[in-house]
Amino acid sequence: MPDRNGENRRCMVITGAGGGLGRALALEYAALQTHLVLWGRNAARLEETGELCRERGASVRTLSLDIRALSAVRERLAELDEECRIDLAFLNAGVSSGSLPDGAPEPVEDACRTLEVNALGNINMAALLAQRMRGRGGRIVCISSLAALYPLPDSPAYCASKSALAVYARALRAAYAGTPVRIGIVYPGYVDSPMSRRILGPQPMRVSAGDAAALIRARLEAGADDIAFPLFTALGIRCLNLLPDPAAYFFARRFGFKVRPDDESPAGG
Ligand SMILES: NC(=O)c1ccc[n+]([C@@H]2O[C@H](COP(=O)([O-])OP(=O)(O)OC[C@H]3O[C@@H](n4cnc5c(N)ncnc54)[C@H](OP(=O)(O)O)[C@@H]3O)[C@@H](O)[C@H]2O)c1
Repeated sequence: MPDRNGENRRCMVITGAGGGLGRALALEYAALQTHLVLWGRNAARLEETGELCRERGASVRTLSLDIRALSAVRERLAELDEECRIDLAFLNAGVSSGSLPDGAPEPVEDACRTLEVNALGNINMAALLAQRMRGRGGRIVCISSLAALYPLPDSPAYCASKSALAVYARALRAAYAGTPVRIGIVYPGYVDSPMSRRILGPQPMRVSAGDAAALIRARLEAGADDIAFPLFTALGIRCLNLLPDPAAYFFARRFGFKVRPDDESPAGG
């Protein structure tokens, strides 16, 4: 986009940019010639990310809006796109839920919220962006999870939500084949972030948010549309799907975990 100084800057939107992987992606792309729109709910945390990105040369705008406000989000996204012609969007905002530390099952309110944010909220944005990019091109990258690839008994709604997002994105990719719209899907394993710090249990091969963001950028720039990491965990999960359910559960149980509820959970933050 032409910014206030008349320079042409690539316009990027990153949701969930107030911390974790979203902040790391923002820092990864915060170079000269980048205009970043940092989207989330917590204005102070978004502004912290914004300051770090400005120090690296990006121009930055922050936007606080819950992605569950579906029609307000569509309106705001369309206005944004009018203003700065979005080239790349990382749909990264997400929440997690699961079995509670005392062994109680995932609260139903948490399950519904997880689906609303991770599936509905992100699908709403992907659908609108793809329509707007149809004529001119652009790239939408949906942050799913390796949890999309196998139904983990400790976080049913999270797996379902990430699977819904990934399947929707794959269908969208096929629907827009032959147009200049590219749809990427990222399936991360464990990434060190506020979200993973609420998980109680083994987190094999957890990577830092900075390493995850660098890997995602490198793979996207190399032309990949499907990015799953770490490789060994991704292969292991794909193998689980080849086994009959009882055998797969035997292995999956070895990686069982509990999830400390977040601030919005009725089980208390
Ligand atoms: N950490 C992992 O091990 C892991 C593994 C696989 C996939 N992922 C995925 O990676 C993405 C980033 O997660 P993370 O690990 O960086 O966790 P995180 O630090 O908890 O970040 C999630 C971000 O999403 C934003 N968000 C949540 N609900 C929102 C809503 N309703 N509207 C707008 N923004 C919302 C939060 O911003 P506010 O606080 O400002 O609302 C937060 O900054 C998520 O989609 C997650 O599912 C993470």
